[in-house]
Amino acid sequence: MKAEARVRAATLRDAEKIFALIGRNTDMLVPRSLGSVVENIDRFVVAECEGTMAGCVAYQIHPEIGNAEAATVEIVSLAVKSILRRRGIGRLLVEAVIENARRFCPREVIALTFAPEFFSALGFAETPKCEVMHKLYTGCINCTKHADPFTCPEIAMKRPL
Ligand SMILES: CC(C)(COP(=O)(O)OP(=O)(O)OC[C@H]1O[C@@H](n2cnc3c(N)ncnc32)[C@H](O)[C@@H]1OP(=O)(O)O)[C@@H](O)C(=O)NCCC(=O)NCCS
Repeated sequence: MKAEARVRAATLRDAEKIFALIGRNTDMLVPRSLGSVVENIDRFVVAECEGTMAGCVAYQIHPEIGNAEAATVEIVSLAVKSILRRRGIGRLLVEAVIENARRFCPREVIALTFAPEFFSALGFAETPKCEVMHKLYTGCINCTKHADPFTCPEIAMKRPL
């Protein structure tokens, strides 16, 4: 059953809940400090459902220096509360954050994920990591689990815009 959810831009009041939700999903997500969430709060979208913050997502721009037409948007810090999953909230969040990032006229949206079926349902297709690694390096370099992005089991997914 679809959830009655509303997505909106995050505010500083959401920061601690976002931090906690990401912290409960670090098996699937790159951990973020509260400071990182606060400093980047303008890139976050949250979903509200049944009087609670049900999920969050953010984006990161990977520009091509000297080629404004070739920017890539990466979906990051996507999580939905476990009791509210499979009710359409993740889809709402991803579509909303892509709309927010459209002003940068990105060529494509990418994600590194352990949930490829979710991204497939949203029109993403698997892509070789070597095609996006230069974009993702800023994230992978902070990884505390894998020294080499190519041995990390996350799957790279891409959706043209
Ligand atoms: C991935 C995640 C955000 C999905 O959120 P969600 O609210 O359950 O997703 P939705 O209900 O919007 O699902 C959208 C589509 O994806 C599909 N889907 C979602 N999770 C899926 C899964 N684990 N396996 C297969 N399909 C899945 C749904 O069936 C749905 O398809 P449909 O619209 O054709 O019916 C959620 O499972 C989560 O928070 N996981 C932990 C953190 C994580 O993995 N984040 C992604 C890191 S990039």
